[in-house]
Amino acid sequence: WGGALFGVQEYLIMMMVAAVATASRDGRTICMTDGIHIGLAGLLFFCFCHMFGFYFGGVSRSLPVRICTFDRNEEGTYYAIDLGGTNFRVLRVEVGAGSVVTSRKVELPIPEELTKGTIEELFNFVATALKDFVESEDGNDEQRALGFTFSFPVRQTSVSSGSLIRWTKGFSIENAVGTDVAQCLNEALARSGLNVRVTALVNDTVGTLALRHYNDEDTVAAVIIGAGTNACYIERTDAIIKCQGLLTNSGGMVVNMEWGNFWSSHLPRTAYDISLDDETQNRNDQGFEKMISGIYLGEIARLVLHRMALESDVFGDAADNLATPFTLSTPLLAAIREDDSPDLSEVRRILQEHLKIPDTPLKTRRLVVKVCDIVTRRAARLAAAGIVGILKKLGRDGSGVALSGRTRGQPRRTVVAIEGGMYQEYTVFREYLDEALVEILGEEVARTVALKVTEDGSGMGAALLAAVYSSNRQQGSI
Ligand code: GLC
Repeated sequence: WGGALFGVQEYLIMMMVAAVATASRDGRTICMTDGIHIGLAGLLFFCFCHMFGFYFGGVSRSLPVRICTFDRNEEGTYYAIDLGGTNFRVLRVEVGAGSVVTSRKVELPIPEELTKGTIEELFNFVATALKDFVESEDGNDEQRALGFTFSFPVRQTSVSSGSLIRWTKGFSIENAVGTDVAQCLNEALARSGLNVRVTALVNDTVGTLALRHYNDEDTVAAVIIGAGTNACYIERTDAIIKCQGLLTNSGGMVVNMEWGNFWSSHLPRTAYDISLDDETQNRNDQGFEKMISGIYLGEIARLVLHRMALESDVFGDAADNLATPFTLSTPLLAAIREDDSPDLSEVRRILQEHLKIPDTPLKTRRLVVKVCDIVTRRAARLAAAGIVGILKKLGRDGSGVALSGRTRGQPRRTVVAIEGGMYQEYTVFREYLDEALVEILGEEVARTVALKVTEDGSGMGAALLAAVYSSNRQQGSI
């Protein structure tokens, strides 16, 4: 586990690889999710693959689509469906007078079997939930545009369409890959008799960025650390090679990075990471995500504890009880790490009730806390390194950006929207991440960077974008 503890060196590598051209923007114009899944991995890959022999799987792209500018005149009631984690949400969002508020929402767990069945079954479930939601209000679905947050890698073909590239986060519905998910949802909505259509198809990172940027124009990026992890940021359109010559508008464009799929030989991968990968449906994919996000952290800790049980007598003869994959969820890992009782009674309870390990001595319970701590700390520091990579790419890490020829200057205020249970609900994770940012950026620069929790940003942002596009004021150029 020594190797799993990240030191300054690894961060430096990640920061260095992200040190590319300055990106500035006019601060007002952003593109609807562009579907360019270049990712941090992509940035790193393009810039430094020769130098470091970087490897990145799954770079995918599609044409950028319409440009949107918030004119703050958008108004009305919009629905959003937010699908992509362990739960899914239906929201009703009121947009008007420059503000966006959720007037109502419901959150439902996604039945496990639906994540492995057919796309029709999954979307029928989603459409029925939306129908129940609409009917429980005024039942009036007339002309209500729908924002659809679909948090998986998508090849975006227009503001309101895009095909699934591959599943992540344990979903594996084969008949969906390559199909237009917005169209599939529209069909399910029609089957359910609802008069609502997808107006904006967005990734959760993009929804979160849209919402925060609407309220605060210093927002340049959004990060999700929940069941999965990903980030997006605003890139200058003229810095995106595929956009050159295509745009008359010189604003910014959101790049959905799909950083969960970042991989590098410089990321030390432990035996536990390899075992975890072997257990997943998407083996060899989403390497970065599997070290950071909520679906996986508890399982990494369980794998460590299981090996300890096999190679020592710390857990008596309970090794077999630790052999079942995914019995230690990340919320349990968090509860273990955050148990501050003198006798670690919560740790004892979790070991007994969830892992069927009978009474353990305090010394062993401390060891379990330490394992959970290391897994958490590594994840938080990796996420922080990713954020610094983006800041460096944008020239907002305080170092000045060599490639643009800009000299060192005062960093501007920079806001990064952040959403997801790992950061919002797991205090120790948040503290480690914040601490790592200060460590890498230095106190002075870190003070200029605000990580702003943007609760429900993914769904609300999708509704906001649905408002923008349905208003028909934003007819984009490509
Ligand atoms: C996974 C998905 C990505 C999403 C992230 C956070 O990495 O591939 O699209 O943004 O999870 O939900």
